[in-house]
Amino acid sequence: MEELVLVSKEGKIATVTINRPKQLNALNGETIATLSETMKSLEGDDSVRAIILTGSGEKSFVAGADIKEFANYSVEEGKDLARRGHESLFNLIENLRKPVIAAVNGFALGGGLELAMSCHMRVASDNASMGLPEVTLGVIPGYGGTQRLAQLVGKGKAMEMITTAGMIDANDGLKWGLVNHVTSADELMTKCSEIAGKIARNSGVAIAAAISAVNAGFAEGVDGFEAEITAFGEAFGTDEFKEGTTAFLEKRKPEFK
Ligand code: CAA
Repeated sequence: MEELVLVSKEGKIATVTINRPKQLNALNGETIATLSETMKSLEGDDSVRAIILTGSGEKSFVAGADIKEFANYSVEEGKDLARRGHESLFNLIENLRKPVIAAVNGFALGGGLELAMSCHMRVASDNASMGLPEVTLGVIPGYGGTQRLAQLVGKGKAMEMITTAGMIDANDGLKWGLVNHVTSADELMTKCSEIAGKIARNSGVAIAAAISAVNAGFAEGVDGFEAEITAFGEAFGTDEFKEGTTAFLEKRKPEFK
């Protein structure tokens, strides 16, 4: 059987590919569990500094949660599906210590757009179509879409996308702040590698602290400014701070381990 998730590494960059192209990479339970294990393992792999997440094939990033799998679920099973997804994968990616770049190579719908939105940034190819069509199925976004879409594009546009179930193209995604860059399909992975390469040159310890401080500003009951002050201070106690500042003073490039 084909592997559900493929991993390749080039230098300090890992590329993770969701591999169910015949089902447009729809997220069934097994794929979510495998993705979760993959992300945890890459987080603990010292040779990896940045991760690119994409979908297999030319048509789709991820076309959503697997509708065939949940079509007969009960209320409790539905709630459990959403909670397990949040905890095991979507929150995990958002809080990963290493930046994850979504390479959106086609449809990013429902759970697929939610997956892209849990990543730290998004680059879309010009054939991308993004939307949260859950209300056409009589359900609502359940992998963080009601929250993360509003954070990224604002409440009004999120309400429009969710209630109309409409899809937007890559250029509207760029205008709305949903994606950071748009490229041709051919250039998508090159652009993601270019961003990941810049990340890989910087202090991984500082990057992890910065991700945590940015996320603190969106967490319930947490003061993001206080989180920043604490993390800023803690940076002064790290070897990477010593290396970064010493390299600057010695007029050389820093070498972060
Ligand atoms: N779940 C399960 N299977 C899916 C799927 C999904 N989300 N999306 C596509 N597929 C499957 C199709 O059933 C089809 O499989 P079969 O050949 O075995 O029938 C295969 O992928 C190819 O799809 P289509 O033939 O439909 O391809 P198309 O080019 O005609 O249409 C599409 C593409 C517009 C993306 C269409 O597939 C579609 O509308 N997919 C569903 C999108 C959707 O509603 N996503 C939200 C899911 S709900 C969710 O995500 C809940 C949550 O927040 C947790």
